[in-house]
Amino acid sequence: MTHDHGPGNLGPGTLGSGTLGLATTRPVYGAIARRLHWATVGAVFVMVPLGLAMTYRGNTLDIWDGLTDALYSSHKLIGFLLLWLMVGRLIWRLLHGAPPDEPSLLWWQKAASHLVHWLLYGLLLVVPLLGWIGVSLYPSLTVFGLFDLPALAKPNEDLAKRVLWLHGTLVFATVAVIGGHIAAALYHYFIRKDGVLRRMLPGLK
Ligand code: HEM
Ligand code: HEM
Repeated sequence: MTHDHGPGNLGPGTLGSGTLGLATTRPVYGAIARRLHWATVGAVFVMVPLGLAMTYRGNTLDIWDGLTDALYSSHKLIGFLLLWLMVGRLIWRLLHGAPPDEPSLLWWQKAASHLVHWLLYGLLLVVPLLGWIGVSLYPSLTVFGLFDLPALAKPNEDLAKRVLWLHGTLVFATVAVIGGHIAAALYHYFIRKDGVLRRMLPGLK
């Protein structure tokens, strides 16, 4: 089971009485799904500034010292782990599903939220994969000089530049979609005051 099921349609308010007279609540995402969500958020919030900082230091300021190398290595390592986190998360989601939509939403709000969620899954698989393909082509697979990531392609510097350009460009699309997603979460919490944010909050039983 993925989520703690209560009866789906209780009308406004999150608390209601079940047929047994027990206090029940609307369904939320399961504990694992919520942990995976917030682990992804943490990793993405580190990866974007890290990517910007390392390219600013390397490409813009043209400083190629130990710190720049360490920033690139961290970016590759965390990004590589994030890719597998997303693969695991996608498998978990496909196997376990999500709780039914918040009942008070209009049809287009449900459709928009599903679209955004699947777009985020897609982007967060494609973006790190392009990074990995890019460093394979370059090639620049070393992580802190300790080990290499497995190569996904034969060296081709021209293609590497195009793939990494696409990587950087899709990150900006991802950040825009995440911005919309966060705005929607806050709109539900502060303006509509419905149960949508609660579905994903950590620490619920
Ligand atoms: C979701 C995960 C990732 C995010 C959010 C992310 C984010 C970024 C960002 C914001 C930049 C700077 C783009 C720019 O300045 O135009 C960047 C560049 C870069 N990323 Fe990632 N990245 C991710 C995963 C990866 C992975 C897994 C690798 C390699 C294993 C990687 C390798 C690179 C490289 C080599 C660059 C430099 C590109 C250049 O110099 O033009 N990234 N990334
Ligand atoms: C890097 C940033 C984020 C990413 C990539 C992300 C990704 C996702 C994805 C893929 C889902 C769909 C889960 C599923 O059905 O399997 C989701 C759901 C959700 N996220 Fe995020 N999220 C991010 C940040 C946030 C933040 C900061 C908040 C809160 C302010 C938030 C609140 C929610 C809520 C409430 C849901 C459940 C929506 C619903 O029940 O329809 N997310 N998120």
